[in-house]
Amino acid sequence: MSAHSGAYRIAVIAGDGIGPEVVAEVLRVLEAVAAPAGFEYETRLFPWGCGYYVEHGHTMPADGIETLSHYDAIFLGAVGDPRIAPEEVAGVGPLLAIRFGFDQYANIRPVKPLPGAPYPLARPEPDAIDFTVVREATEGIYVGLGGRFSPDDPAVAEIVAVRQIFAQSNEIAVQTGVYSDAGCRRVIERAFLLAEQRDGRRLVTSATKANAMKHGMSLWNDVFAEVASRHPDVESEWNNVDALAMRLVLKPETLDVVVAPNLFGDILTDLSAALLGGLGFAPSANLGDGHWPPMFEPCHGSAPDIAGRGIANPTASLLTLVMMLEHLGEQRAAQAVDGAVREVIASGAVRTPDMGGSATTEEMGRAVAEAAAAIVGRS
Ligand code: NAD
Ligand code: IPM
Ligand code: MN
Repeated sequence: MSAHSGAYRIAVIAGDGIGPEVVAEVLRVLEAVAAPAGFEYETRLFPWGCGYYVEHGHTMPADGIETLSHYDAIFLGAVGDPRIAPEEVAGVGPLLAIRFGFDQYANIRPVKPLPGAPYPLARPEPDAIDFTVVREATEGIYVGLGGRFSPDDPAVAEIVAVRQIFAQSNEIAVQTGVYSDAGCRRVIERAFLLAEQRDGRRLVTSATKANAMKHGMSLWNDVFAEVASRHPDVESEWNNVDALAMRLVLKPETLDVVVAPNLFGDILTDLSAALLGGLGFAPSANLGDGHWPPMFEPCHGSAPDIAGRGIANPTASLLTLVMMLEHLGEQRAAQAVDGAVREVIASGAVRTPDMGGSATTEEMGRAVAEAAAAIVGRS
Protein backbone atom coordinates (compact mmCIF):
# COMPACT_ATOMS: atom_id res chain seq x y z
CA MET A 1 0.00 0.00 0.00
CA SER A 2 1.06 3.52 -0.68
CA ALA A 3 1.86 5.80 2.26
CA HIS A 4 0.36 8.76 0.43
CA SER A 5 -3.04 9.92 1.63
CA GLY A 6 -5.37 11.18 -1.06
CA ALA A 7 -4.88 11.26 -4.78
CA TYR A 8 -1.74 12.58 -6.46
CA ARG A 9 -2.44 15.59 -8.62
CA ILE A 10 -0.58 15.29 -11.89
CA ALA A 11 -0.53 18.09 -14.46
CA VAL A 12 -0.09 16.79 -17.99
CA ILE A 13 1.18 18.90 -20.87
CA ALA A 14 1.12 16.63 -23.89
CA GLY A 15 2.38 19.37 -26.22
CA ASP A 16 3.06 19.06 -29.92
CA GLY A 17 4.05 16.48 -32.51
CA ILE A 18 4.65 13.08 -30.94
CA GLY A 19 4.07 14.56 -27.45
CA PRO A 20 0.37 13.60 -27.30
CA GLU A 21 1.12 10.20 -28.90
CA VAL A 22 3.62 9.12 -26.25
CA VAL A 23 1.74 10.77 -23.36
CA ALA A 24 -1.37 8.70 -24.23
CA GLU A 25 0.69 5.57 -23.53
CA VAL A 26 2.03 6.99 -20.27
CA LEU A 27 -1.54 7.58 -19.11
CA ARG A 28 -2.54 4.08 -20.21
CA VAL A 29 0.29 2.48 -18.23
CA LEU A 30 -0.28 4.69 -15.21
CA GLU A 31 -3.93 3.65 -15.17
CA ALA A 32 -2.94 -0.02 -15.40
CA VAL A 33 -0.69 0.06 -12.33
CA ALA A 34 -2.21 2.66 -9.97
CA ALA A 35 -5.13 0.75 -8.46
CA PRO A 36 -3.28 -2.58 -8.07
CA ALA A 37 -0.33 -0.71 -6.53
CA GLY A 38 -2.72 0.98 -4.10
CA PHE A 39 -2.65 4.66 -4.97
CA GLU A 40 -5.01 7.14 -6.52
CA TYR A 41 -4.26 10.01 -8.83
CA GLU A 42 -6.00 12.62 -10.87
CA THR A 43 -4.64 14.14 -14.05
CA ARG A 44 -5.51 17.39 -15.71
CA LEU A 45 -4.50 18.00 -19.30
CA PHE A 46 -3.23 21.45 -20.23
CA PRO A 47 -3.40 22.08 -23.99
CA TRP A 48 -0.28 24.27 -24.03
CA GLY A 49 2.44 24.43 -26.65
CA CYS A 50 2.70 25.59 -30.26
CA GLY A 51 -0.90 24.75 -31.18
CA TYR A 52 -2.02 26.94 -28.27
CA TYR A 53 0.39 29.66 -29.45
CA VAL A 54 -1.22 29.80 -32.89
CA GLU A 55 -4.61 30.31 -31.27
CA HIS A 56 -3.66 32.59 -28.38
CA GLY A 57 -0.34 34.21 -29.25
CA HIS A 58 1.46 32.56 -26.31
CA THR A 59 2.31 28.94 -25.52
CA MET A 60 0.76 29.02 -22.05
CA PRO A 61 -1.42 31.48 -20.11
CA ALA A 62 0.22 34.17 -17.98
CA ASP A 63 -0.93 32.43 -14.79
CA GLY A 64 0.21 28.99 -16.02
CA ILE A 65 3.04 28.64 -13.49
CA GLU A 66 0.72 29.61 -10.63
CA THR A 67 -1.81 27.03 -11.86
CA LEU A 68 0.83 24.28 -12.00
CA SER A 69 2.18 25.13 -8.55
CA HIS A 70 -0.79 23.32 -6.99
CA TYR A 71 0.16 19.96 -8.52
CA ASP A 72 2.34 17.18 -7.09
CA ALA A 73 4.10 16.60 -10.41
CA ILE A 74 4.09 17.72 -14.01
CA PHE A 75 4.43 15.34 -16.95
CA LEU A 76 5.40 16.95 -20.25
CA GLY A 77 5.45 15.19 -23.63
CA ALA A 78 7.26 17.54 -26.00
CA VAL A 79 6.82 21.10 -27.18
CA GLY A 80 7.84 22.50 -30.56
CA ASP A 81 6.50 22.68 -34.05
CA PRO A 82 8.78 24.56 -36.43
CA ARG A 83 6.02 24.59 -39.07
CA ILE A 84 3.77 26.84 -37.00
CA ALA A 85 5.98 28.59 -34.45
CA PRO A 86 9.56 29.87 -34.43
CA GLU A 87 12.03 27.76 -32.42
CA GLU A 88 12.50 30.49 -29.80
CA VAL A 89 8.76 30.29 -29.08
CA ALA A 90 8.90 26.53 -28.47
CA GLY A 91 11.91 26.90 -26.17
CA VAL A 92 10.64 29.65 -23.96
CA GLY A 93 7.21 28.00 -23.92
CA PRO A 94 6.13 25.75 -21.09
CA LEU A 95 9.38 23.78 -20.86
CA LEU A 96 11.84 26.51 -19.91
CA ALA A 97 9.14 28.55 -18.16
CA ILE A 98 8.49 25.58 -15.86
CA ARG A 99 12.16 24.80 -15.24
CA PHE A 100 12.87 28.44 -14.38
CA GLY A 101 9.52 29.13 -12.68
CA PHE A 102 9.92 26.21 -10.27
CA ASP A 103 13.70 26.54 -9.99
CA GLN A 104 14.20 23.00 -11.29
CA TYR A 105 17.96 23.26 -11.40
CA ALA A 106 18.80 19.56 -11.64
CA ASN A 107 17.90 17.85 -14.88
CA ILE A 108 18.59 14.18 -14.20
CA ARG A 109 19.17 12.04 -17.29
CA PRO A 110 20.09 8.39 -16.65
CA VAL A 111 21.89 6.42 -19.35
CA LYS A 112 21.54 2.67 -18.98
CA PRO A 113 21.05 0.61 -22.16
CA LEU A 114 18.11 -1.80 -22.14
CA PRO A 115 18.77 -5.38 -23.22
CA GLY A 116 17.17 -5.85 -26.63
CA ALA A 117 17.28 -2.19 -27.64
CA PRO A 118 19.39 -1.29 -30.68
CA TYR A 119 22.94 -0.59 -29.54
CA PRO A 120 25.35 1.34 -31.75
CA LEU A 121 28.80 0.52 -30.35
CA ALA A 122 31.13 -2.38 -31.11
CA ARG A 123 32.42 -2.14 -27.59
CA PRO A 124 31.91 -2.15 -24.61
CA GLU A 125 29.01 -4.53 -24.03
CA PRO A 126 25.85 -2.47 -23.36
CA ASP A 127 25.55 -3.75 -19.80
CA ALA A 128 28.89 -2.09 -18.97
CA ILE A 129 27.25 1.33 -19.39
CA ASP A 130 25.39 2.84 -16.45
CA PHE A 131 25.82 6.54 -15.82
CA THR A 132 23.66 9.55 -15.07
CA VAL A 133 24.04 13.05 -16.41
CA VAL A 134 23.11 15.74 -13.91
CA ARG A 135 22.55 18.79 -16.02
CA GLU A 136 22.30 22.28 -14.56
CA ALA A 137 19.02 23.63 -15.94
CA THR A 138 18.40 27.16 -14.73
CA GLU A 139 21.43 29.24 -15.65
CA GLY A 140 24.32 29.50 -18.10
CA ILE A 141 23.55 30.44 -21.66
CA TYR A 142 19.87 29.57 -21.15
CA VAL A 143 19.08 32.61 -18.99
CA GLY A 144 17.96 34.45 -22.10
CA LEU A 145 19.85 37.68 -21.46
CA GLY A 146 21.18 39.72 -24.35
CA GLY A 147 19.52 40.90 -27.49
CA ARG A 148 19.97 41.82 -31.13
CA PHE A 149 21.45 45.25 -31.63
CA SER A 150 22.66 47.66 -34.25
CA PRO A 151 26.41 48.13 -33.71
CA ASP A 152 25.66 51.88 -33.42
CA ASP A 153 23.53 51.27 -30.33
CA PRO A 154 25.40 52.89 -27.39
CA ALA A 155 24.22 50.03 -25.16
CA VAL A 156 26.66 47.70 -26.95
CA ALA A 157 29.56 50.11 -27.55
CA GLU A 158 31.97 48.10 -25.36
CA ILE A 159 31.05 44.84 -27.03
CA VAL A 160 31.35 46.25 -30.53
CA ALA A 161 34.89 47.40 -29.70
CA VAL A 162 35.98 43.78 -29.13
CA ARG A 163 36.15 42.83 -32.84
CA GLN A 164 36.45 44.88 -35.99
CA ILE A 165 33.87 42.72 -37.75
CA PHE A 166 31.26 43.65 -35.13
CA ALA A 167 31.53 47.33 -36.05
CA GLN A 168 31.37 46.48 -39.75
CA SER A 169 28.14 44.49 -39.35
CA ASN A 170 24.51 45.54 -39.68
CA GLU A 171 23.49 43.66 -36.58
CA ILE A 172 25.10 41.91 -33.64
CA ALA A 173 23.47 39.42 -31.29
CA VAL A 174 24.58 39.14 -27.69
CA GLN A 175 23.74 35.94 -25.81
CA THR A 176 24.88 36.27 -22.24
CA GLY A 177 25.64 33.22 -20.12
CA VAL A 178 25.35 33.77 -16.40
CA TYR A 179 26.82 31.37 -13.83
CA SER A 180 26.59 31.81 -10.06
CA ASP A 181 28.52 30.06 -7.32
CA ALA A 182 25.26 29.16 -5.56
CA GLY A 183 23.75 27.88 -8.81
CA CYS A 184 26.81 25.78 -9.61
CA ARG A 185 27.10 24.54 -6.02
CA ARG A 186 23.58 23.19 -5.66
CA VAL A 187 23.72 21.12 -8.83
CA ILE A 188 27.27 19.87 -8.28
CA GLU A 189 26.32 18.97 -4.70
CA ARG A 190 23.38 17.00 -6.08
CA ALA A 191 25.68 15.10 -8.41
CA PHE A 192 27.93 14.10 -5.49
CA LEU A 193 24.91 13.01 -3.44
CA LEU A 194 23.76 10.89 -6.36
CA ALA A 195 27.23 9.34 -6.63
CA GLU A 196 27.14 8.51 -2.91
CA GLN A 197 23.95 6.54 -3.43
CA ARG A 198 25.55 4.35 -6.10
CA ASP A 199 26.87 0.85 -5.48
CA GLY A 200 30.41 0.18 -6.57
CA ARG A 201 32.50 2.88 -8.16
CA ARG A 202 31.57 6.47 -7.30
CA LEU A 203 33.05 8.94 -9.71
CA VAL A 204 31.78 12.41 -10.56
CA THR A 205 33.03 13.82 -13.84
CA SER A 206 32.64 17.55 -14.44
CA ALA A 207 31.99 18.68 -18.01
CA THR A 208 33.74 22.00 -18.43
CA LYS A 209 35.53 24.30 -20.85
CA ALA A 210 37.55 26.90 -18.96
CA ASN A 211 40.08 27.09 -21.78
CA ALA A 212 37.54 29.01 -23.87
CA MET A 213 34.91 30.18 -21.35
CA LYS A 214 37.28 31.73 -18.89
CA HIS A 215 34.76 33.44 -16.61
CA GLY A 216 31.81 31.08 -16.32
CA MET A 217 33.76 27.85 -16.40
CA SER A 218 36.50 28.96 -14.02
CA LEU A 219 33.76 29.71 -11.48
CA TRP A 220 32.19 26.31 -12.22
CA ASN A 221 35.61 24.63 -11.79
CA ASP A 222 36.32 26.40 -8.49
CA VAL A 223 32.95 25.37 -7.07
CA PHE A 224 33.44 21.81 -8.34
CA ALA A 225 36.80 21.59 -6.53
CA GLU A 226 35.23 22.97 -3.33
CA VAL A 227 32.30 20.53 -3.38
CA ALA A 228 34.60 17.62 -4.25
CA SER A 229 36.80 18.42 -1.23
CA ARG A 230 33.73 18.01 1.00
CA HIS A 231 33.04 14.53 -0.45
CA PRO A 232 36.28 12.60 0.01
CA ASP A 233 34.31 9.34 -0.32
CA VAL A 234 33.60 10.16 -3.97
CA GLU A 235 36.23 10.28 -6.70
CA SER A 236 36.15 13.33 -8.91
CA GLU A 237 37.69 14.57 -12.12
CA TRP A 238 37.03 17.15 -14.80
CA ASN A 239 36.98 16.73 -18.54
CA ASN A 240 36.76 19.43 -21.17
CA VAL A 241 33.40 18.91 -22.79
CA ASP A 242 34.85 18.32 -26.26
CA ALA A 243 37.04 15.48 -25.00
CA LEU A 244 34.16 14.19 -22.90
CA ALA A 245 31.99 13.95 -26.02
CA MET A 246 34.60 11.62 -27.51
CA ARG A 247 34.82 9.63 -24.28
CA LEU A 248 31.04 9.11 -24.28
CA VAL A 249 31.46 7.11 -27.47
CA LEU A 250 34.84 5.45 -26.94
CA LYS A 251 34.82 4.79 -23.19
CA PRO A 252 31.30 5.32 -21.83
CA GLU A 253 31.86 2.54 -19.26
CA THR A 254 34.32 4.83 -17.42
CA LEU A 255 31.53 7.23 -16.38
CA ASP A 256 29.27 7.11 -13.28
CA VAL A 257 27.86 10.59 -12.73
CA VAL A 258 28.51 13.44 -15.13
CA VAL A 259 27.69 16.95 -13.97
CA ALA A 260 27.37 19.53 -16.70
CA PRO A 261 26.43 23.16 -17.27
CA ASN A 262 23.15 23.66 -19.08
CA LEU A 263 24.04 23.66 -22.78
CA PHE A 264 26.82 21.08 -22.44
CA GLY A 265 24.39 18.81 -20.63
CA ASP A 266 21.78 19.29 -23.33
CA ILE A 267 24.17 18.24 -26.08
CA LEU A 268 25.81 15.43 -24.13
CA THR A 269 22.44 13.88 -23.29
CA ASP A 270 21.33 13.62 -26.92
CA LEU A 271 24.70 11.98 -27.60
CA SER A 272 24.11 9.70 -24.61
CA ALA A 273 20.66 8.86 -25.98
CA ALA A 274 22.40 7.43 -29.03
CA LEU A 275 24.08 4.89 -26.71
CA LEU A 276 20.59 3.76 -25.66
CA GLY A 277 19.44 3.28 -29.26
CA GLY A 278 18.12 6.78 -29.86
CA LEU A 279 16.02 9.50 -28.30
CA GLY A 280 13.09 7.12 -28.05
CA PHE A 281 14.81 5.55 -25.02
CA ALA A 282 16.08 8.53 -22.98
CA PRO A 283 14.09 9.63 -19.89
CA SER A 284 14.57 12.69 -17.71
CA ALA A 285 13.43 14.44 -14.55
CA ASN A 286 13.68 18.11 -13.63
CA LEU A 287 14.05 18.53 -9.90
CA GLY A 288 14.27 21.52 -7.62
CA ASP A 289 14.44 21.58 -3.86
CA GLY A 290 10.93 20.41 -3.17
CA HIS A 291 8.70 23.41 -2.60
CA TRP A 292 7.35 23.22 -6.11
CA PRO A 293 6.30 20.38 -8.38
CA PRO A 294 9.03 18.57 -10.29
CA MET A 295 8.64 18.01 -14.03
CA PHE A 296 9.12 14.73 -15.82
CA GLU A 297 9.75 14.69 -19.58
CA PRO A 298 11.51 12.48 -22.07
CA CYS A 299 14.75 13.96 -23.46
CA HIS A 300 13.36 14.01 -26.97
CA GLY A 301 11.41 16.72 -28.74
CA SER A 302 8.25 16.64 -30.81
CA ALA A 303 9.93 14.70 -33.66
CA PRO A 304 8.12 16.48 -36.54
CA ASP A 305 9.62 13.98 -39.00
CA ILE A 306 7.54 11.11 -37.58
CA ALA A 307 4.69 12.97 -35.84
CA GLY A 308 1.11 12.02 -36.62
CA ARG A 309 1.95 8.51 -37.77
CA GLY A 310 1.62 6.73 -34.44
CA ILE A 311 5.10 5.21 -34.67
CA ALA A 312 7.05 7.10 -32.01
CA ASN A 313 8.78 4.95 -29.44
CA PRO A 314 7.03 5.54 -26.08
CA THR A 315 9.90 3.95 -24.08
CA ALA A 316 11.56 7.27 -23.18
CA SER A 317 8.24 8.51 -21.78
CA LEU A 318 7.49 5.26 -19.97
CA LEU A 319 10.93 5.30 -18.31
CA THR A 320 10.19 8.92 -17.42
CA LEU A 321 6.97 7.67 -15.80
CA VAL A 322 9.15 5.27 -13.78
CA MET A 323 11.18 8.28 -12.58
CA MET A 324 7.96 10.09 -11.63
CA LEU A 325 6.60 7.10 -9.71
CA GLU A 326 9.93 6.72 -7.89
CA HIS A 327 9.84 10.40 -7.00
CA LEU A 328 6.29 10.05 -5.63
CA GLY A 329 7.47 7.12 -3.51
CA GLU A 330 5.43 4.55 -5.44
CA GLN A 331 8.23 2.00 -5.67
CA ARG A 332 5.99 -0.97 -6.43
CA ALA A 333 4.39 0.74 -9.40
CA ALA A 334 7.76 2.11 -10.54
CA GLN A 335 9.34 -1.33 -10.47
CA ALA A 336 6.39 -2.83 -12.30
CA VAL A 337 6.56 -0.29 -15.13
CA ASP A 338 10.34 -0.56 -15.35
CA GLY A 339 10.15 -4.36 -15.39
CA ALA A 340 7.40 -4.29 -18.01
CA VAL A 341 9.34 -1.98 -20.35
CA ARG A 342 12.38 -4.24 -20.02
CA GLU A 343 10.33 -7.38 -20.58
CA VAL A 344 8.63 -6.03 -23.71
CA ILE A 345 11.88 -4.76 -25.22
CA ALA A 346 13.87 -7.87 -24.35
CA SER A 347 11.19 -10.12 -25.86
CA GLY A 348 11.46 -8.30 -29.18
CA ALA A 349 7.80 -9.04 -29.82
CA VAL A 350 6.71 -5.40 -30.08
CA ARG A 351 9.21 -3.12 -31.78
CA THR A 352 8.59 0.40 -33.09
CA PRO A 353 10.40 1.39 -36.34
CA ASP A 354 13.39 2.92 -34.50
CA MET A 355 13.95 -0.61 -33.13
CA GLY A 356 13.70 -2.10 -36.59
CA GLY A 357 10.10 -3.26 -36.22
CA SER A 358 6.72 -2.08 -37.43
CA ALA A 359 4.75 -1.80 -34.18
CA THR A 360 2.83 1.35 -33.34
CA THR A 361 3.21 3.56 -30.30
CA GLU A 362 -0.12 2.26 -29.05
CA GLU A 363 0.79 -1.42 -29.51
CA MET A 364 3.90 -0.87 -27.47
CA GLY A 365 1.97 1.04 -24.80
CA ARG A 366 -0.65 -1.70 -24.57
CA ALA A 367 2.03 -4.41 -24.25
CA VAL A 368 3.77 -2.50 -21.45
CA ALA A 369 0.46 -1.79 -19.66
CA GLU A 370 -0.45 -5.48 -19.73
CA ALA A 371 2.98 -6.60 -18.53
CA ALA A 372 3.07 -3.92 -15.82
CA ALA A 373 -0.37 -4.91 -14.49
CA ALA A 374 0.77 -8.54 -14.34
CA ILE A 375 3.97 -7.64 -12.47
CA VAL A 376 2.27 -5.39 -9.95
CA GLY A 377 -0.40 -8.04 -9.40
CA ARG A 378 2.32 -10.55 -8.43
CA SER A 379 4.39 -8.16 -6.28
P1 NAD B 1 13.67 15.62 -31.66
O1 NAD B 1 14.11 15.05 -30.37
O2 NAD B 1 12.24 15.97 -31.75
O3 NAD B 1 14.00 14.59 -32.84
C1 NAD B 1 15.33 14.20 -33.19
C2 NAD B 1 15.29 12.87 -33.94
O4 NAD B 1 14.97 11.81 -33.01
C3 NAD B 1 14.21 12.80 -35.03
O5 NAD B 1 14.70 12.08 -36.12
C4 NAD B 1 13.08 12.06 -34.36
O6 NAD B 1 12.24 11.34 -35.23
C5 NAD B 1 13.82 11.11 -33.41
N1 NAD B 1 13.00 10.81 -32.23
C6 NAD B 1 12.75 11.63 -31.19
N2 NAD B 1 11.92 11.07 -30.31
C7 NAD B 1 11.63 9.84 -30.79
C8 NAD B 1 10.81 8.77 -30.33
N3 NAD B 1 10.13 8.84 -29.17
N4 NAD B 1 10.72 7.66 -31.09
C9 NAD B 1 11.40 7.57 -32.25
N5 NAD B 1 12.20 8.54 -32.74
C10 NAD B 1 12.30 9.67 -32.02
O7 NAD B 1 14.59 16.87 -31.93
P2 NAD B 1 14.45 18.06 -33.00
O8 NAD B 1 14.04 17.53 -34.32
O9 NAD B 1 15.67 18.87 -32.85
O10 NAD B 1 13.26 18.96 -32.41
C11 NAD B 1 11.93 18.95 -32.88
C12 NAD B 1 11.15 20.00 -32.09
O11 NAD B 1 11.06 19.63 -30.72
C13 NAD B 1 11.79 21.39 -32.11
O12 NAD B 1 10.77 22.34 -32.14
C14 NAD B 1 12.53 21.45 -30.79
O13 NAD B 1 12.73 22.75 -30.30
C15 NAD B 1 11.59 20.69 -29.89
N6 NAD B 1 12.20 20.05 -28.71
C16 NAD B 1 11.42 19.98 -27.61
C17 NAD B 1 11.86 19.30 -26.50
C18 NAD B 1 10.95 19.19 -25.31
O14 NAD B 1 9.82 19.62 -25.35
N7 NAD B 1 11.40 18.57 -24.22
C19 NAD B 1 13.11 18.67 -26.51
C20 NAD B 1 13.89 18.74 -27.68
C21 NAD B 1 13.42 19.44 -28.77
C1 IPM C 1 15.79 19.40 -23.78
C2 IPM C 1 15.45 20.33 -24.92
C3 IPM C 1 15.31 21.76 -24.42
C4 IPM C 1 16.64 22.18 -23.82
C5 IPM C 1 14.85 22.79 -25.48
C6 IPM C 1 13.53 22.39 -26.11
C7 IPM C 1 14.76 24.17 -24.94
O1 IPM C 1 16.40 20.23 -25.93
O2 IPM C 1 15.02 19.31 -22.81
O3 IPM C 1 16.81 18.72 -23.85
O4 IPM C 1 17.55 22.61 -24.53
O5 IPM C 1 16.77 22.09 -22.61
MN1 MN D 1 17.82 18.64 -25.64
